[in-house]
Amino acid sequence: MKMKNLITIEQLNRKEIMEILELAKRIENNPQNFEKELEDKSLATLFFQPSTRTRSSSSLAMQKLGGKVIDIYETKHETGMLEAESFEDTIKVIGDYVDLICLRHISEEAPYTAEKNTQAKLINCGNGGDQHPTQTLLDLYTILKGFERLDNLKISIIGGLKGSRSAHSLLIALSFFENNRVKLISPKSLEMPKKYIQQTKNRLKIIEKENFDITDQDVIYMAGLSAKDSDKNMREKYQITLEKIKSIKNNTLILNPLPRIDEISKEVDKLQNAKYFQQSKNGLFVRMAVFLKLLKDQSPQ
Ligand code: CP
Repeated sequence: MKMKNLITIEQLNRKEIMEILELAKRIENNPQNFEKELEDKSLATLFFQPSTRTRSSSSLAMQKLGGKVIDIYETKHETGMLEAESFEDTIKVIGDYVDLICLRHISEEAPYTAEKNTQAKLINCGNGGDQHPTQTLLDLYTILKGFERLDNLKISIIGGLKGSRSAHSLLIALSFFENNRVKLISPKSLEMPKKYIQQTKNRLKIIEKENFDITDQDVIYMAGLSAKDSDKNMREKYQITLEKIKSIKNNTLILNPLPRIDEISKEVDKLQNAKYFQQSKNGLFVRMAVFLKLLKDQSPQ
């Protein structure tokens, strides 16, 4: 597989996604086999929005593959700094130092501007309210671990779907597999943008609902509600509590890209269905696999 950059999940097809997930599995099982794979490579994490998981797991993923990392916490591009530098110049300079840039930016356009201004490879780690492809790969990895398949699944994606880049990328990725049925559950004002539904509706059976109804689902994906878009009543309506999920199946996976605010009450954490911390941990192996695919295009068998 030859990948240049990873900006949107639709740059991958089903076969390529499965290759990445299979490589992630091999890495998780035998990390020692991969310790020197990228020892001649380097990564810059360049995040213009906060991150706990994506930045730290990307940084560690490169280190575990033997590569070098620079984590950039402040640039002269950021608003409010006196000596402002253009985004284009910032990307050009950083890209001349490293082989790969992991970029998070509030602007949806940022990764497209970035790729025009650097020879370094680029991973979009969240562009505004558009996409978050490595999040989706680790979501799929977690689902695959639970069900040993990514076809024939019933999946509810719940929350403020309008601006959830994790939900957008996940919906698109689910459409690459067969016979998946997706319930999109959100307040009317925060429903999934039509463009993502248009993009996937020929391949997915999609139902949009305002009511919280999660009976008989294989995966409950809590995308979260941002505090600025919701009030207390709305948050309670779309929150998971032990009471609301008492009739879910034993093997239903409850996922959340994290950070959690209150969309899943803490009492749910003790259930075997609660996989969101395992999901977050899976991000390390998945990002190692993505880096190998981008920078080496081969890996030890
Ligand atoms: N899921 C996710 O993107 O988390 P961070 O914002 O902490 O990176």
